[in-house]
Amino acid sequence: MCGIVGYTGRQDAAPLLLEGLRKLEYRGYDSAGIAVENDGRLRMVKASGHIDRLEEKTHGGADLPGCCGIGHTRWATHGAPTDVNAHPHMSNDGKFAIVHNGIIENYSALREELRGKGFVFQSETDTEVIVHLLDMYYQGDLKEAVMRTAARLEGSYALGVVCADVPGTLCAIKMASPLILGVGIGENYFASDVTALVSHTKNVIYLEDGEFAELTPESITVYDVAGRPVSHSISRIVWDVEAAEKGGYDHFMLKEIMEQPRAMKAAIEPRIRSGRIVLDDFDDAFKVCFDDVHRIVITACGSAYHAGCVGRTMIEALCRTPVEVDVASELRYRDPIIDDHTLLIAVSQSGETADTIAAIREGKNRGAKVLAIVNVVGSTIAKLSDYVLYTWAGPEIAVATTKGYTTQIAVLSLLAVWMADRRGLLTPERYSELTGGILDLPERTQRAIDLNPQVAYLAERYRDNTSLFFIGRNLDYAVCLEASLKLKEISYIHSEAYAADELKHGTIALIDEGRLVVALACCEALFDKTMSNIKEVKARGAKVLAVTHEGGRRVFAEADDVLFVPVTDPLLAAIPEIVPLQLFAYYVARANGCDIDKPRNLAKSVTVE
Ligand code: M6R
Repeated sequence: MCGIVGYTGRQDAAPLLLEGLRKLEYRGYDSAGIAVENDGRLRMVKASGHIDRLEEKTHGGADLPGCCGIGHTRWATHGAPTDVNAHPHMSNDGKFAIVHNGIIENYSALREELRGKGFVFQSETDTEVIVHLLDMYYQGDLKEAVMRTAARLEGSYALGVVCADVPGTLCAIKMASPLILGVGIGENYFASDVTALVSHTKNVIYLEDGEFAELTPESITVYDVAGRPVSHSISRIVWDVEAAEKGGYDHFMLKEIMEQPRAMKAAIEPRIRSGRIVLDDFDDAFKVCFDDVHRIVITACGSAYHAGCVGRTMIEALCRTPVEVDVASELRYRDPIIDDHTLLIAVSQSGETADTIAAIREGKNRGAKVLAIVNVVGSTIAKLSDYVLYTWAGPEIAVATTKGYTTQIAVLSLLAVWMADRRGLLTPERYSELTGGILDLPERTQRAIDLNPQVAYLAERYRDNTSLFFIGRNLDYAVCLEASLKLKEISYIHSEAYAADELKHGTIALIDEGRLVVALACCEALFDKTMSNIKEVKARGAKVLAVTHEGGRRVFAEADDVLFVPVTDPLLAAIPEIVPLQLFAYYVARANGCDIDKPRNLAKSVTVE
């Protein structure tokens, strides 16, 4: 939920730390701080609010000279987003400063113990115990103090440490939170995410849980949990720095919506060769595993869960295998029926969502094989799973996911067809119809994006609605869930997604004169049924904005406004259908002056339960 960054080299650290924090701000943005070591002394500045405030307070970093330092951008969990609760946290004697991403679960007991030994706490955070533990265990050997401290911690952490006694040296250690080392020439870095590193180096090391790294300008040494040096290969970041910049767009969200055709191509094209789906990511072991699967459980959170709902319809329709979709935080606590004939599919953009990670662990304990559909390479979920299909969407910075979600559906559609084919359930004609339809998705997505001016106009017209409904059936309903979430999270307008016919079992009482209902009607087989539901809300005074495909012109008879999305195979309609609704949420939020890329109370990756 937070972002951390560290630098040691020959340049002034503070401006580089501020730049890194800007790249990580999507991970949390309620307060930030930096600490820099200079000639064996630590100086620290913290500020509540966005990074701009920290930048002002430090005069762009000029107030903190020195070539070695750490930074943090926060999403508050323990204690309000105040200057005092912001990281870094410093030891009472000013010798250590630390930044932390994660949650220390046993912090209350540690706090009591440390208070009893005379340590004075400044903040309400769980993190502060770490810096006092370091102070307690330090007897001239930083590595030993960090390792003894880590041994006392329960929970998750990516931790960066700077110590006045060891100028020019950073320590970094991780457990169940992401931490990546950036390998430079005469300088080295650590960060929560490669986006903070890529403008300086494309050479990175992905630390494993329990590993500890010591960084100086000239060297990086990694140790395992027992303190033995371990060698790591250096990985190369494959995308360019521009991928993590706004590239002329006002917001990352708009840029990422526009990038969807390209992202979709990257997810699909390498996986369809000579008309056949080839999931190179899998080895033959997956085929053997899948042949023994009786049931599939898809688990995820937020938009990834909504992608899973689309996936269920596609897999069940094609593969005739029962699929259950469950929100990860619910799955793990309800004694799920999962055994060694279950395939657990975990869907996650970040690969770091705490509840999804816990659901995977639960599934594995019960004998399931786990297939992850993930965007971030080397993420915890990717590492934890038996099989991984990357979505190759590139970095997604906006808190509201767009290309992350659509590429998940693209990969699920490939998987659904692959599975159905493996079970011998598709005729050659249907197989090539579906693969052709999947290959056409980037072009269909582009045509949906071309609705941009029309959507911007409609958003202006409907921006004042304070509460609205998205209705649809079957796959349309799954898309409603995502459309409603998009609008809520960035525009703060209340909305609900409803299975169109379910509305009349109570909620229709809320439909009154002028209430906006967005009706999704791309499921051809259910088109007339949805039309009836549109009539029902119209009869009660609702305004209806319909989203249908080019063949659904008769919706004009009932709807006030219509958006026509390109026709696809009905099973693949979710992708072009969501695009105008992503744009709708964007333009409504923009018209209402909302902070689109950094919506209130949110963070990009939810790494706490
Ligand atoms: O990184 P993940 O895909 O695991 O994240 C899951 C959700 O937290 C995420 O989709 C969230 O709902 C987004 N804010 C939606 O835009």
